[in-house]
Amino acid sequence: MSSSVDPTSIAIAVHGGAFAIPPGEYEAHRLGCRKALERGREVLLDGGSALDAVEAAVRALEDDGSFDAGRGSFLDETGTVSLDAGIMDGATLKTGSIAAGIGIRNAVTVARRVLESPHAVIVGEGARLFAERTGCDVCDPAEMVHPRELARWQAAGGGGGGPNWASQLFGDTVGAVALDAQGNLAAATSTGGSPGKPRGRVGDSPFVGAGLFADNRSAATSTTGHGERIIPLVWAKAVADLVERGHAAPQAATMGLTMLDRLDAKGGIIVLDRQGNVGVAWNTPAMAFAAWPAGVGGARPEIKDGPRA
Ligand code: GLY
Repeated sequence: MSSSVDPTSIAIAVHGGAFAIPPGEYEAHRLGCRKALERGREVLLDGGSALDAVEAAVRALEDDGSFDAGRGSFLDETGTVSLDAGIMDGATLKTGSIAAGIGIRNAVTVARRVLESPHAVIVGEGARLFAERTGCDVCDPAEMVHPRELARWQAAGGGGGGPNWASQLFGDTVGAVALDAQGNLAAATSTGGSPGKPRGRVGDSPFVGAGLFADNRSAATSTTGHGERIIPLVWAKAVADLVERGHAAPQAATMGLTMLDRLDAKGGIIVLDRQGNVGVAWNTPAMAFAAWPAGVGGARPEIKDGPRA
């Protein structure tokens, strides 16, 4: 670990989604968020960039299997995992997103490769081709089907049954925001989308401004919730704008919730400002998150985590 990084100068927050998390899954969601937070924090303490940290943290959440991202993703109407992800660098405003990607293990890393390319968004079959071409981990789509999600999908009637997931209040999309020792912000969001979604449906998560946003002039944000309603509210950017207008991250997150009321949207958001303040807010029954604000040093600092009701 690099000794040149002041541990009080860095900050990171992650989330595992805002919805009606079954109480029996609280502990897994809390642990998954804490592990992802630690992973991202290690990257920052090693002198890595905020962009590296959010990618590492979201990869950990995708690999965990507890969340609606990566190998824990909900299945679409055909019983397939189809992934959306986005990542944004607050220093350069470079972005990368993929949508409706099939047979991809870590959507956030493919999004990172897109950010590093001349492109901004790659979708569908092209996302997998791009993943292969850029050395990302691809697989048989069947390998991405988690037995828990297959059982849920079957219990809901499979593709032909018109699953009614209203009681689930959408999904547990994951995300991360980070501030590195150079003072740069970054954000990333990744999801399997809504359960039983139509083939090719894309929610807010990969859309810059809706599912994520990062700008060193304002804040880094990652959202979760009802994509179809978050998209028109351009929620991630709207909340970052509150920070640019002078509100600290915790206040901006809380104020951001009132924006959801206009469309009766349900969701949650994590917000990180350049001072390293973290805001977390949600209007669903629970939200899974973990946060390490700036200013926290020492060998065993407190980690604030969720889910909270
Ligand atoms: N917020 C994730 C989705 O709507 O797909």
